[in-house]
Amino acid sequence: MLVGNLSRTINLSFKLGLRQLRRMSSLPVPPPPSLAEGLKIPQKILAGPGPSNVSERVLQAHALPTIGHLHPEFCKVMDDIKAGTQYIFQTKNAMTLALSATGHAGMECVMTNMLEPGRTILIANNGIWGVRSKDMAERQGATVKEVTAETGSNFTLAELEAAVKEYKPDILFVTHGESSTGVVQPLEGIGAMCHANNCLFAVDTVASLGGVPLKADELDIDVIYTGSQKVLGVPPGTAPISFSQRAVDSFKSRTRKPTSFYLDLDWLGEYWNCWPDKGRIYHHTGPVNAMYALREGLAIVAEEGLENCWRRHRLCADRLHEGIQELGLEFFVADPDKRLPTVSTIMVPEGVKWNEVTAYCMKNDLVEIAGGLGPSAGKVWRIGVMGNNASIKVVNQVLDSFGRALASVGWKK
Ligand SMILES: Cc1ncc(COP(=O)(O)O)c(C=O)c1O
Repeated sequence: MLVGNLSRTINLSFKLGLRQLRRMSSLPVPPPPSLAEGLKIPQKILAGPGPSNVSERVLQAHALPTIGHLHPEFCKVMDDIKAGTQYIFQTKNAMTLALSATGHAGMECVMTNMLEPGRTILIANNGIWGVRSKDMAERQGATVKEVTAETGSNFTLAELEAAVKEYKPDILFVTHGESSTGVVQPLEGIGAMCHANNCLFAVDTVASLGGVPLKADELDIDVIYTGSQKVLGVPPGTAPISFSQRAVDSFKSRTRKPTSFYLDLDWLGEYWNCWPDKGRIYHHTGPVNAMYALREGLAIVAEEGLENCWRRHRLCADRLHEGIQELGLEFFVADPDKRLPTVSTIMVPEGVKWNEVTAYCMKNDLVEIAGGLGPSAGKVWRIGVMGNNASIKVVNQVLDSFGRALASVGWKK
């Protein structure tokens, strides 16, 4: 009876539409009128620091039928994602999976699993991701130390080594692509240095993975994560992550459970069938369609080949940087070798209002260019060229829009 009534109500609501239903409703909170309007989403060029545009192929994968999150077909999708994630990170780590959440969850997953009171983390802080990771680490009750670099610059191996020797951390946290300042952190030698000092090495690659050469195992990285929404060209909402055996051993030697149930590696490892001695069990209901999209994004990178993907991003960054110089603008990161290829930071000249320029691009061309964030707020524009958008055609479109926007506010080189 209840089911009959319910289905009649649903049918009725389809026939009447939300507007009429609202008039008839006796509920204290009626159906919101805005839901009666059709969903309209414009097609934009997403040339900010993320998300980047999603290809038709990934969107189609996302639209495939939802199935059970433990059905064999979906377990196969999860296995594909594990293999694809090992490929993009260049790791053979068994503990490799994807979080059902955005890049921030990757950061939180490092902190909640690797830290507890009595452990020490050293954060290499040269931008907003240093600030946020420090905040997350403090919430774990761990001892948090930091080493800082000048804004718009990165760390030398010697600087990091000196800090590791001084603070004797259990883990060093580094951001590979600091998207708030547009700085890339060279990773060579850091992992080996950490291991020589009895320390783990964790790296955030949310803004860099796929756009900057990186081989996690060769770099002795112990925990690495990224996000779906940038170079992978997949909607925001999933975050590939991988833990080395050293990191897993450190996790096993914890004296108490992680503070987060959702991000607990014990549970996640079971859900993703990563523990050699355990089977797959229910932890949470995986976002099935989001994982289809991630699987397809990984397949696209694998088809192109990681090295080609790195090269394509380098070429597009070079073209963007050339165009920025032609416009007479300067870079926030003075040293070209320290510039992140995926997200570029461009100084806002004196007398120019950065948001008038970004508003012009959006209004006239549906092109998204972002302002600064954290230490670069109000000082820069950030242009992201990632994933699908890493093509010379898109870079030229963005430069064209940016150039006209600058002219519209009276900027002359
Ligand atoms: C380097 C870096 N880390 C972490 C994040 C957080 O990712 P999300 O916004 O997907 O949570 C971002 C997002 O831009 C990022 O650039």
